[in-house]
Amino acid sequence: MEKNIAVLSGDGIGPEVIEQALKVLTAIETKFNHTFHTQFALVGAIAIDKTGNPLPEETLDICLQSDAVLFGAIGDPKYDNDPSAPVRPEQGLLKLRKSLGLFANVRPVTTYPTLLSLSPLKEEKIKGVDFVIYRELTGGIYFGEKGRKDDTAYDHCVYSREEIARITILAFDAARLRRKKVTLVDKANVLETSRLWRDEVKRISAQYPDVELDFLFVDNAAMQIIQFPSQFDVMLTENMFGDILSDEASVITGSMGLLPSASVGAKTSLYEPIHGSYPQATGLDIANPMATILSAAMMLDSFNLHTEAEVIRESVKNLLESGYGTAELQLPHTCKCSEIGDLIAAKILAL
Ligand code: IPM
Ligand code: MN
Repeated sequence: MEKNIAVLSGDGIGPEVIEQALKVLTAIETKFNHTFHTQFALVGAIAIDKTGNPLPEETLDICLQSDAVLFGAIGDPKYDNDPSAPVRPEQGLLKLRKSLGLFANVRPVTTYPTLLSLSPLKEEKIKGVDFVIYRELTGGIYFGEKGRKDDTAYDHCVYSREEIARITILAFDAARLRRKKVTLVDKANVLETSRLWRDEVKRISAQYPDVELDFLFVDNAAMQIIQFPSQFDVMLTENMFGDILSDEASVITGSMGLLPSASVGAKTSLYEPIHGSYPQATGLDIANPMATILSAAMMLDSFNLHTEAEVIRESVKNLLESGYGTAELQLPHTCKCSEIGDLIAAKILAL
């Protein structure tokens, strides 16, 4: 198979973790006889420094012409304390989501038996937790009209049935292949948009009689994720709630450096680790590249290369089970970021 991949390494540890994922993809190419053409492009703070624009036109063109985007991380401390700076790295990501039509952010929350002790929750709570969040990504309060008038400011939250329907269908399709349960998280006791979500999701659920649907208010969901995380299978929610809950969910496993994500669009989808640019670790070769490597596996799934994706996931699992990992995993053998890439690539080649 031949595929074009846009590689947007971004800022901080982005380039280091991406380099490891590319090593792994090269091993997959060799082993399974595929060709992945990679094209690098600028995004984030580095793009601002070099071009003044967090998402240069050239980058967008490269993404639009590719089969998938592999994304590192964006963000630089020089922007952190001034959220009102006119040009910011995040704008690059938001514009990319909108321009590629990346309407669903898919974040699996997976636990690894060897790493359970790293969870801030008691082991018995977190054991066997395996759910996936479907967060709407191009609508709601993020993209509604915003502005100021005199001493007031507003951010409108707007949703159409169409925007709700397309992600709901993805979530139900995913549930069918899992434990067949969808939990819609909303604030339907207060918000009109949430009431539209309930209405539309219920309507679509009629086509999935084999999938159980339940509802949780977002405040309650925030508690349930901590108290009984194993109840969830597919969690479906709007943009802002999903932003907050997916960060909460990512830390309960104790291994945030291992969590991948996919942002699915009409045509080209984007794959990125859920962690940020971790500026303190930049250039130190200590960041965990596994989340990016697993994001590359999700990308291969989208190419229907399921065997290849599974080979990557199994190699990561094997490595952890043999006690190898980056420092924060506190395993018997501490590896550098670059060593993890080498070890996983070597495992694949030795199959
Ligand atoms: C995320 C991030 C972004 C968001 C920021 C960087 C705009 O927090 O991907 O979850 O809020 O969506
Ligand atoms: Mn976020």
